[in-house]
Amino acid sequence: MYRTHTCGALRNKDIGTKVTLSGWVQRSRDLGGMTFIDLRDRYGITQLVFNMETDAELCEKARKLGREFVVQIEGAVIERTSKNKNMPTGDIEIEASFLGILNEAKTPPFTIEDETDGGDELRMQYRYLDLRRNPVQEKLRLRNKVSLETRKYLDGQDFMDVETPVLIKSTPEGARDFVVPSRMNPNEFYALPQSPQTFKQLLMVSGMDRYYQIVKCFRDEDLRADRQPEFTQIDCEMAFVEQEDVLQTFEGLIQHLFREVIGVELDEQFPRMTYAEAMEKYGSDKPDIRFGMEFNDLTEKAQGNGFVVFDSVEAVLAINAEGCASYSRKQLDALTNWVKRPQIGARGLVYVKCNEDGTSKSSVDKFYSEEERKVWLDQCGAKPGDLLLLLCGDLDKTRKQLNELRLHLGTKLGLRDPKVFKPLWVLDFPLLEWDEESERYHAMHHPFTSPKPEDFDLIDTDPGKVRANAYDLAMNGVELGGGSIRIHDKALQSRMFDLLGFTKEEAEAQFGFLMNAFEYGAPPHGGLAFGLDRLVATMGGSESIRDYIAFPKNNSGRDTMIDAPAPIDDAQRKELGIALD
Ligand code: AMO
Repeated sequence: MYRTHTCGALRNKDIGTKVTLSGWVQRSRDLGGMTFIDLRDRYGITQLVFNMETDAELCEKARKLGREFVVQIEGAVIERTSKNKNMPTGDIEIEASFLGILNEAKTPPFTIEDETDGGDELRMQYRYLDLRRNPVQEKLRLRNKVSLETRKYLDGQDFMDVETPVLIKSTPEGARDFVVPSRMNPNEFYALPQSPQTFKQLLMVSGMDRYYQIVKCFRDEDLRADRQPEFTQIDCEMAFVEQEDVLQTFEGLIQHLFREVIGVELDEQFPRMTYAEAMEKYGSDKPDIRFGMEFNDLTEKAQGNGFVVFDSVEAVLAINAEGCASYSRKQLDALTNWVKRPQIGARGLVYVKCNEDGTSKSSVDKFYSEEERKVWLDQCGAKPGDLLLLLCGDLDKTRKQLNELRLHLGTKLGLRDPKVFKPLWVLDFPLLEWDEESERYHAMHHPFTSPKPEDFDLIDTDPGKVRANAYDLAMNGVELGGGSIRIHDKALQSRMFDLLGFTKEEAEAQFGFLMNAFEYGAPPHGGLAFGLDRLVATMGGSESIRDYIAFPKNNSGRDTMIDAPAPIDDAQRKELGIALD
């Protein structure tokens, strides 16, 4: 047997037993007469001790062990003289009587300890070594627990795990597809699914009633901290449901996961907000409601005083940074430069300080009297010591910019505690969004989302105003998941394709299979999908999903460890009938 115990198992009660352990040499300390070795595996670290006096030969052998050698040892569990309270196995050590080297190791390119000296790129290139580190393993353990509890909960609610194909035809989920050439069908391509959307709807037509799948999805889009080209969804669909049924079911799932996996009781009922309200108050469809600092619309009150910058714009919006009136010139300049960076793109930042005596001081005192500034402060609920920050411009853009500033300040002021979790359902998304470039409507969620019945009339008169039966779950400023009640009627689905600018032929070619299925008795249905990577990262208190994925891609979509993507050889290429540009 390679081992009788793991490196995390032994305690006081085991003192006196003979054990065999296997693992990696994390560290060794040679004190002359004694050599100590920390032996590591997934379960923990156990200290081994080799004594020159009792077995010189064995001790010499131990001295020569390098970091990350794989070894097997036998020995007796003894009580440690100096106990280590920070280690679960810190009461004991193993007095070794046998040492076998199972494999030698080159010196690793970075230290494999909780705190490492390896930079991001290096750790990605040697991800299998990075994965030996406890903080990284901890994240995968969290992910494992979340998947397991997801299965338990959904199974308990009669959801059935059904696999759907990976080589499919394009699904219009908004991003670009990854495509795969078909050798057997020259000049034709499969697409990798952006999500199993159409398949899960077909499963509802099949009478599957409740479907789920923890499934890989693929999207060729620009990467960010919370986006990977391949990511995992907890994908779900239910038949004979309305929006309320779906929200209740998945509120239950999220509560279950937080309770069982990290011991956090979430709100008994998740708050809800319409998309319109979220945009008005936070300039975001995934507001972080761990803190206030809501938007105030000062457009009306700020215009007409001869300040051209405000007079010439669609909107003047303000947030109140509580207690920040003490910001120095330098701090305010830094904030101004921050909003002017190309990523944010604001033209400038106006401030109003609310002094302790109730008077105010602003960067636009020339144009606005003390009384006029007081009106702003009152509307924003500012108290002495607070600081108003104003941005202006086109309404949509200003909302986006002020959202960024609000989040930035929230972080700076310590209002975004990663251990506090605030879920929020965002409802009533617009069905369509106008795309300036292609001069046509796009489905905001996807083309299978049903309009709200009370807005049916607007479809012909004012399509941009139609609200969808769609919902997102936001948490701490992250979109954790989203879904909708679907169209299950062929005529309405065709009308939707029409609106999106598909000709009859295009719609038939792309989605004929779905429309046909709708002619054979499609039940009313709806569902949603959570981003598993984002869910786990949020639970772990991180904004980046990368560490929660065993083998992630870097920001250019590369796997630097296996060096992909990579050219293929000529023979393979010719067989696929592909010519290179
Ligand atoms: P949607 O496109 O909103 O909906 O995706 C659902 C959730 O998946 C996560 N997600 C991502 N996570 C990491 N990297 C990405 N590139 C990425 N893209 C999306 C997000 C998101 O909320 N078929 C519909 C669901 C439905 O209608 O049932 C869909 O895919 O957390």
